[in-house]
Amino acid sequence: MPISLEVIFVLTMVGTSGMALIRADNCASSETCLATNRMTFPWRSARLPSFIVPEHYHLNIHVDFATQTFKGQVKILIAVTKCSRFIVLHSKNLNICEAFLEAIHTQKNISLQVLQAPKNEQVAFTSNTSLEAGRKYDLTIGYTAPLSTSFSGFYKVFYTTKSGAQRMLAATHFEPTSARKAFPCFDEPHMKALFSVTVVHSQQNYAISNMPMRTSLLRADGLVEDHFLHSLKMSSYLVAFVVSDFASRSAMSTRGIKVSVFAPSEQISQTEHALHIGVKILEFFEEYFQIPYPISKLDLVAIPNFESGAMENWGLITFRETSLLYDPETSTGLNKIWVTLVTAHEIAHQWFGNLVTMAWWNDIWLNEGFASYMEFVATNHLRPEWSVVSKALKQLSLSVIVNAQPVFRSGIQSYLREHSYGNAQQDQLWQALSKVILFFTFNGQSVLLAHRGARALPHCNEPTTEKTKTRGFTAYVNHITVLQYGIPRPPDYTA
Ligand SMILES: *[C@@H]1O[C@H](CO)[C@@H](O)[C@H](O)[C@H]1NC(C)=O
Ligand SMILES: *[C@@H]1O[C@H](CO)[C@@H](O)[C@H](O)[C@H]1NC(C)=O
Ligand SMILES: [Zn+2]
Repeated sequence: MPISLEVIFVLTMVGTSGMALIRADNCASSETCLATNRMTFPWRSARLPSFIVPEHYHLNIHVDFATQTFKGQVKILIAVTKCSRFIVLHSKNLNICEAFLEAIHTQKNISLQVLQAPKNEQVAFTSNTSLEAGRKYDLTIGYTAPLSTSFSGFYKVFYTTKSGAQRMLAATHFEPTSARKAFPCFDEPHMKALFSVTVVHSQQNYAISNMPMRTSLLRADGLVEDHFLHSLKMSSYLVAFVVSDFASRSAMSTRGIKVSVFAPSEQISQTEHALHIGVKILEFFEEYFQIPYPISKLDLVAIPNFESGAMENWGLITFRETSLLYDPETSTGLNKIWVTLVTAHEIAHQWFGNLVTMAWWNDIWLNEGFASYMEFVATNHLRPEWSVVSKALKQLSLSVIVNAQPVFRSGIQSYLREHSYGNAQQDQLWQALSKVILFFTFNGQSVLLAHRGARALPHCNEPTTEKTKTRGFTAYVNHITVLQYGIPRPPDYTA
């Protein structure tokens, strides 16, 4: 997600005060412990238990544009690490109509009772038979829901063609906590798993998802069933699928990654710039991070009327039209720079955020801060003649970092390598970059770059001076000793 004031505000809420709120009333009174059917809900915390671990989701989504609803079935392979009579996961606004549990070791069905706790956006499946530690189970849940109108979860969008025809598409936006509105899931960023997505839709449309398509079947009922390859190990908030009648254009990177830009067919001529720089940026980051982009394709999709600026779903990035499309006839030079910066930001997230993810939302600035920094580095590298970009870098005192490029780069590379397909907390990043931070010297002082979302972060014993603010970044100037010992966590962090 790119930096914007709204986004930062929302994410800050989720990361700090939002959590505190949820924690304060996590079923302290007996009333909040009652599930919707007045049975006792077996779990009190807003955070999910750690003894049920999701490993692989098989998600089948059947979207019906005529009724503007969808029907889903998700089968989740779970590993149980502590004997339990219940499974708790997230679900929001889904009508659950079936659920069953199969023990992998006995191949037997275990009957389940469904309990819902809307307050914590959780659903529990309880059983009279204990699930055994060290065993694996397949939990299958069937459900239905209307397509959302809110640009989160699985939502519908309408747009109008030049001839006045109204068109509809359906797309997803899950960050931070809306995957649970599209399928029951363990919707916490550290609960990474594999996802095998299947989308069923009419012949007028087609589907794309995080991964390349495995097979597409035309069923006897006239519907199309698209099966996608199973994903990498990833967080639920990065899962995505889009069903549309869009046109697309593709180009290959030198390493053979297929980059495609999708847009309404009338706007497909405006995708040239994004396609060109998309390939270049992907190649730049592969070289910069020294880690190959791990999927064989990268899709960039322009969503009409999209509220967010863009969202970095792994392998399928969604954008507001003005953040992806560029019309040489009518757009300005600044539009072109904006498209480049946003595209670079989102592609940087494919490593920072997707490959290595923050353990919890209070560390969202890890994702946002570094993607925001890298968007300038990549853009400045590709278009050194764009003075707005190089000036922004200077304003941020980033020239200091650029001078220390080799050290910064090797710190980032080892951080990404060490935590690939896993999660990291800020302390681990400071560790990875501790040498580098000492390099951020400017006029005899250290410069710490902090994302606006993390404005409480530089909690040092010594006064900090705010130096510059731009696009969500603040540069804090400090004495070198303070930075050397890392940044203590502010007291209002809850996780
Ligand atoms: C478990 O029950 C479901 C639903 O009734 C059924 O489809 C499935 O085949 C059963 N599995 C086993 C192992 O009996
Ligand atoms: C569990 O046992 C109780 C009491 O015997 C019974 O009423 C209930 O239906 C059982 N639940 C399941 C899911 O089998
Ligand atoms: Zn972002």
